[in-house]
Amino acid sequence: MIYTSAPSNIALIKYWGKRDTKLNLPLSSSFSGTLEQMRSWVAIASQDKGDEQWMLYGDPQKAMRVLEAARKFTRNTQQLAISICNDFPSQAGLASSASSMAALAFGLDIALSRGNTPLAEIAKWARLGSGSAVRSLYPGFVLWQAGQTEDGSDCIAQSQCSAAHFPLDVLVCVIDDRNKPIGSSAAMEHCRANSPLYERFHARNADDLCHAMRAVQDRDFSALTEISEANCLAMHAVMQSAKPPINYFMAGTHQTIAAVRELRKQGISCFFSIDAGPNVKIFCPPEHTSQIIGHIHSISGVMRVIHDRISNQAARRETHWPRHLPCPLKSDHTP
Ligand code: PMV
Repeated sequence: MIYTSAPSNIALIKYWGKRDTKLNLPLSSSFSGTLEQMRSWVAIASQDKGDEQWMLYGDPQKAMRVLEAARKFTRNTQQLAISICNDFPSQAGLASSASSMAALAFGLDIALSRGNTPLAEIAKWARLGSGSAVRSLYPGFVLWQAGQTEDGSDCIAQSQCSAAHFPLDVLVCVIDDRNKPIGSSAAMEHCRANSPLYERFHARNADDLCHAMRAVQDRDFSALTEISEANCLAMHAVMQSAKPPINYFMAGTHQTIAAVRELRKQGISCFFSIDAGPNVKIFCPPEHTSQIIGHIHSISGVMRVIHDRISNQAARRETHWPRHLPCPLKSDHTP
């Protein structure tokens, strides 16, 4: 049995639009931080009889696209039994498809080609499941370049700097852990066709990216605060100005944004980021974490807080399945 895991990642400069919907090629580049605790887990075993077996949280079509790409590249059609589990809420705008598709692609390389596939190729498989999955394969602060070629050969990700360069905690405020009302791919396409702000959002991407990367390089928390919140709110303005609008925010989202702004007024460094869901991620220097958690616990709309951080623990092979998750595959699946 092969076990792998990969963490979720949170974009500081967001990916919100595709230049190719089949290949999941982004229209603009994005920049993210790879997390550590919020991980997806994959178990893969070879299977000689019967149909392919899947046990997964999430969208089976995404996983099938990753498997097909891995098979095509490795020319290995071995039947597999595959289990995918997330140790945090799925399909709630917490990037569970990014972590699960990254862990799956990483595991398929080991199962089908003994770990011999270059990471850039594994990233292509992961991208076909979920664009942002590419970023979960790399440690620390990661740039995913949109590229220009039709086949996506220049659409690559790389780590820009180690997490140790600029230590940041990420407090994930869970406001609603149910599935989001509209998936990100459908929402992006809706915005492309129906939002007057879609093009403007992409026109400012190069500038935003440059500011955010410089802020990380310079360890300039207040510059990162300004650019990350502005970029995140610009993405949500694209959604909310579409006809009909897409609004992922809930009461707890607004309460948490207000709390972050209030904490900043009190001199506590922190900023928020929100993806395709109501949940809010708060970034802060580790020395401010306990004060922020204390404050967030008093917000009625926040169900719980997951304490994570930007980390170098990207996708990796594991020696065993975590005890707290349901047992994946039956023991009669031989490795
Ligand atoms: O990779 P997808 O299809 O789950 O899209 C991710 C979109 C956002 O999370 C909203 C932004 C991002 O860059 O992660």
